[in-house]
Amino acid sequence: MARVAVVTGGSRGIGRAICEGLQQDGFTVVANYAGNDAAANQLKADTGIPSYKFDVGDHEASLAGCKQIEAEVGPIDVVVNNAGITRDGTLHRMSFEDWNEVMRINLGGCFNMAKAAFPGMRERGWGRIINIGSVNGQAGQYGQVNYAAAKSGIHGFTKALAQEGAKFGVTVNAIAPGYIDTDMVAAVPEPVLEKIIAKIPVGRLGHAEEIARGVRFLCSEDAGFVTGSTMSINGGQHMY
Ligand code: CAA
Repeated sequence: MARVAVVTGGSRGIGRAICEGLQQDGFTVVANYAGNDAAANQLKADTGIPSYKFDVGDHEASLAGCKQIEAEVGPIDVVVNNAGITRDGTLHRMSFEDWNEVMRINLGGCFNMAKAAFPGMRERGWGRIINIGSVNGQAGQYGQVNYAAAKSGIHGFTKALAQEGAKFGVTVNAIAPGYIDTDMVAAVPEPVLEKIIAKIPVGRLGHAEEIARGVRFLCSEDAGFVTGSTMSINGGQHMY
């Protein structure tokens, strides 16, 4: 029977590319999303991949959402924690709400989904958790104390949970994307983005499929000895 993979924030951008890539690799893929019904419907129409709507930053909603997925689709073998938001602004202009929302969704979402899926993976002796961090969690970024802190937290979360999962056949890894041509990056003001691209040695934005390929490897049997690692896919922007 095909393994079940849940991709949070799976209806658009990097998440959608991950959904499609894992489907090609033979997983039964389920997307989670928070708000964009049109994108979720499009994903279903194009690929047949179903979406479950819940806020990964909401602990109870995440537990209930994963329970529903397990009842309707099957035990969750793979979780890709991809859902994330930005609320950019310099600290002196950033509200507590902007801080808290980014921490709640980007970092809290990883905890909530792992709480829901890790026990079953542990019992069955096989699992893959892939957390999508960011170059900005590794290097920091002007105007992103919230996002950089949350993404940096994801890297610590990954290394800690990897140690807990190892003896149960559950690997936990992170991918740190650089600037990828998604809606999130398109929202960065043009002159700011131009300066950022100028500092990327490869000389361009990345593509969502280039992140998906890393996820596909980490989800494969071949990656059974890889755990607690961070794969940086950033065009050489930050060599960590
Ligand atoms: N380093 C130093 N100074 C900087 C700077 C930087 N990187 N960026 C801007 N500044 C300076 C500017 O030069 C300017 O200084 P002066 O007033 O002396 O000219 C001052 O900061 C204000 O700059 P802005 O006009 O841009 O200020 P703003 O308040 O309108 O906007 C901001 C601030 C919202 C942070 C805006 O600069 C911005 O959106 N920056 C992009 C942040 C970013 O890269 N976000 C990534 C989103 S994508 C993502 O996060 C995905 C991923 O994982 C990679």
